[in-house]
Amino acid sequence: MDEVVTENLSKHFGETVAVDGIDMTVPQGAVFGLLGPNGAGKSTTVRLLCTLLRPTSGGAVVAGHNILEEPVEVRRVTGVLPEEGSHTVYPSMTVYENLEYFARLYGLPEETIPAEIERLLKFMELWERRDDRAGELSTGNRQRLALCRALIHRPRVLLLDEPTASLDPIAARRVRELILRLSKEYQQTFFINSHNLAEVQRVCDHIAIIDNGKILLAGPTDELRKRLRARQVFRIRVYGDTGTAEEVASTAEFVHSVERDADCLLVTVDDPVENNSRLMRLLLDAGVKIVEFAEEEATLEDLYLQVVRGGGDA
Ligand SMILES: Nc1ncnc2c1ncn2[C@@H]1O[C@H](COP(=O)(O)OP(=O)(O)O)[C@@H](O)[C@H]1O
Ligand SMILES: [Mg+2]
Repeated sequence: MDEVVTENLSKHFGETVAVDGIDMTVPQGAVFGLLGPNGAGKSTTVRLLCTLLRPTSGGAVVAGHNILEEPVEVRRVTGVLPEEGSHTVYPSMTVYENLEYFARLYGLPEETIPAEIERLLKFMELWERRDDRAGELSTGNRQRLALCRALIHRPRVLLLDEPTASLDPIAARRVRELILRLSKEYQQTFFINSHNLAEVQRVCDHIAIIDNGKILLAGPTDELRKRLRARQVFRIRVYGDTGTAEEVASTAEFVHSVERDADCLLVTVDDPVENNSRLMRLLLDAGVKIVEFAEEEATLEDLYLQVVRGGGDA
């Protein structure tokens, strides 16, 4: 079962094509990361999914509800933490009052509200802060309160737009840990926008990479990692001049790219199992004295740079 399905979803702002015909599926229960650079179309996508914006063309179904035909139902089953999400809570109200206010707004049965608030605040480690005014909280705590606000009506789908972008590294880490704990504890689906590759790699089990409003690559995180193994980067250090080695490597047909990194060469090889020994032989035959020939650890960064805006060539 897919919890979010988009079909040719598009949004234009005048001449700007913010979202350009996206087809995307997010499995139920997934922690899905929409990863892309600034201006890629992430926030617009989330605003379309929570019915804050109307698509120029195409559509989407969120938790079984069509964003065009059933916007009220879509809002009921989604919880949103927008960009700069900590502004979605009222600074002059206490932590507790904020949640009480939003719980009533969502029409939660009055008798269930206290227990629900306590459960959430304890989960988010904010219970001790319940009587503090939201405006007096640290940025990290305010963001966690905003997350509670998004969760108060137990939505099936959580749309989190750059949940850690405005936080210092320690607060960001706590928010990430809480998101992971939430996703394990409850059967909710998380849709997380991020420009932070390391974050998406750690938190998300499914990833789609977006740029210029288009999805460039999508799939389970593990599969994307495996796909990387089809191409391997070798770090090569030679004795003496690197020039010959660079020339030899660049002309081999199975070499995808050659880069200099200080006194080393970073050589990207297609089909490494087959070709790393061929590369080594070519270098030795050309009289290159190899000091080091090591596999670079593959991260999603390689893949990301390969697909986003022709990056990696810079
Ligand atoms: N309300 C708007 N009016 C005009 N252009 C917009 C609006 N919102 C977003 N855009 C443009 O759409 C593109 C995608 O923006 P956005 O979805 O915010 O990207 P991201 O969240 O990935 O940084 C950008 O070029 C941005 O300038
Ligand atoms: Mg954004």
